[in-house]
Amino acid sequence: MKKAPQPMWGGRFAAGPAEVVKQFTESVSFDWRLYKHDIAGSIAHVHGLLKAGVLAKTEAAKIKRGLRAVEREIELGKFKWDTSLEDVHMNIEAALVRKIGAVGAKLHTARSRNDQVATDLRLWLRSEIQSAKSETRNIQKSLIAVAEKNMGVMMPGYTHLQRAQPVLFAHHLLAYVEMFDRDMQRLEDCLKRVNICPLGSGAIAGTALKLDRDYVAKLLDFNGATRNSMDAVSDRDFVVEFMAATALVAIHLSRLAEDLVLWSTAEFGFVVIGDAYTTGSSLMPQKKNPDVAELTRGKTGRVVGNLVAVLTMLKGLPLAYNRDLQEDKQPLFDSADTLLASLRVMGDMLRHTKVNRAKCESAVSDPMLLATDLADFLVNRGIPFREAHRVVGALVVESEKTGTPLPKLAVKRFGAGAARVFNVRHALASRRAVGAPSPTNVRMQLTRWKRLLK
Ligand code: ARG
Repeated sequence: MKKAPQPMWGGRFAAGPAEVVKQFTESVSFDWRLYKHDIAGSIAHVHGLLKAGVLAKTEAAKIKRGLRAVEREIELGKFKWDTSLEDVHMNIEAALVRKIGAVGAKLHTARSRNDQVATDLRLWLRSEIQSAKSETRNIQKSLIAVAEKNMGVMMPGYTHLQRAQPVLFAHHLLAYVEMFDRDMQRLEDCLKRVNICPLGSGAIAGTALKLDRDYVAKLLDFNGATRNSMDAVSDRDFVVEFMAATALVAIHLSRLAEDLVLWSTAEFGFVVIGDAYTTGSSLMPQKKNPDVAELTRGKTGRVVGNLVAVLTMLKGLPLAYNRDLQEDKQPLFDSADTLLASLRVMGDMLRHTKVNRAKCESAVSDPMLLATDLADFLVNRGIPFREAHRVVGALVVESEKTGTPLPKLAVKRFGAGAARVFNVRHALASRRAVGAPSPTNVRMQLTRWKRLLK
């Protein structure tokens, strides 16, 4: 039998790890996806070592060429990932040494996998945040497109899922645009702390070699280098921050999904989701199910769980690096993947969702939605709001008991002037306070968002 390759940590061990240990500790099956950033980090490190006088020019050039060749192999799918080499870092380094010989072994000077993995993860996250930001913008644009197309559509606004007051359909959708905007801000803020370079912090105590860490950080487009080597190798706050921001986006998506699920029921009928974004039932031929919205809602559980997993993993870790930290990757990758996929499909689905104006407006024509406006009408006649509320409340009970429409009772009680209250268009148009859903306001908001998202 062929002898298993010896681990890269060399002379200390008489034997390699047991098979179960290899399987238990390897991470290359999932961290391979950091390869691009691992290689970019290594190339910057080569420049650092060159500047520090550790590498000669020809050596540096050779290592760089070797790293690029490894990268090409990976990209072409020709690279053989080897779990007995544990992780992406050792796989790439071993391949480099195989390719260019002994000089390849100079790359891992003044560097540990501890600062290496922290660097890779930050580089990877930096690009994921860019994708998350652009997908978030994209779903905002979808919401705005639907809002604009249905600008005139009125619907009941709900509290406690009971009909409350009339709003514009567009106003409801713009509420989500606001949520996703706060999400954007959180992602941008998180990026500031992601974009700092830990490379050169070594295993825990930096290096005695003359490494210009600020120079290396600049080469990688970081905003600066970390200032405490122990913190740098063990800090995963930036992972938590991203995952917390992600969890909130997922929760916003889930709430939107729930609205769409409700609205697409026969009971509501406010929207019709395009066939391509629904699924059928294998048993009931009439069914058209909003599975995309349901799965988006369901996946939120994973994203929240991933955040809790990483927080719990970090709790009580002594300084500095501990292998526990390897457990950050799968939840982080899963949250990022889930988020991007959910944002994409929900954005697309929105653009293929039709609003049923007749259903929305039949629901909004319920005069009970204007009971508050009737109370305000009394307030305008000098009656204290609490009193007006009580009087209208009693009228609502009477209407329900006798089956007499509320407007009829109102006219009988307060005179013909009360009839005007029950014009829903008029009621909506008068809600002009900042943030209220008058068509004038909502149109202004649409214009503002379109300008901001251009
Ligand atoms: N795969 C490891 C991780 O993700 C890389 C760092 C390992 N460092 C070590 N000293 N074993 O955390």
